[in-house]
Amino acid sequence: MRAGSAAVNAGKPGCRRCGHLCRVTAVLIRRESAADVPAVRQVIAAAFAQGDSGGEPAVVTLLDELREDKAWLPEFSLVAEGPDGDVVGHVLCTRGHVDAAPVLALGPIGVRPDRQRGGVGSALVHAVLGAADARDEPMVVLLGDPRYYSRFGFRLAGEYGVTPPVPGWLPHFQVRTLTAYSPALYGAFAYPEPFDRV
Ligand SMILES: CC(C)(COP(=O)(O)OP(=O)(O)OC[C@H]1O[C@@H](n2cnc3c(N)ncnc32)[C@H](O)[C@@H]1OP(=O)(O)O)[C@@H](O)C(=O)NCCC(=O)NCCS
Repeated sequence: MRAGSAAVNAGKPGCRRCGHLCRVTAVLIRRESAADVPAVRQVIAAAFAQGDSGGEPAVVTLLDELREDKAWLPEFSLVAEGPDGDVVGHVLCTRGHVDAAPVLALGPIGVRPDRQRGGVGSALVHAVLGAADARDEPMVVLLGDPRYYSRFGFRLAGEYGVTPPVPGWLPHFQVRTLTAYSPALYGAFAYPEPFDRV
């Protein structure tokens, strides 16, 4: 294994976790470079293609627009690089706000379909949370399935008095508090403006 890379999912036939043949995926998590941008678009397009009616998924346009927005934070755009040097996953946090206080909005996150369920998504989430904590960010906010994100310490945002832009999102609207969090941080969450067009 390369220095700094992580072997994710021990992945042996009949493995204890799922009982099926799993892929061994060794990935290096690092910041996205300018050269990665086309590959990141492809990975996100492929990850979100399932169930889409064809054409480029709206989330790819969102990614493009976030890249041009003042909310873009290059230190929180991370890729998972596979053993062949190809990008197999991507996670992004951009600048959101709880009332006037800056927090991070996590998303989109995507893993190339042929690499899903091999621990790549988990490696990306752990890495971006570590980076956020190291940068004294108080909170990471996302909309997603609690069955997946609770394993990373996300909790329903309502427990912290953080409310989503759309009330119907409450069952899937989650926050992860970090070292710099204070209970004084609560109120209405606002995504960066490009999310309003999705
Ligand atoms: C969600 C995603 C990033 C997870 O990445 P991954 O590399 O497949 O995830 P991991 O291998 O780390 O974790 C796999 C586990 O997550 C679970 N999981 C994956 N996606 C899930 C989802 N949407 N809801 C609930 N559980 C999910 C799997 O069932 C598996 O559970 P297990 O560990 O109990 O077997 C990836 O599946 C993906 O790109 N999906 C399509 C795009 C998407 O939906 N993005 C998230 C939008 S919030």
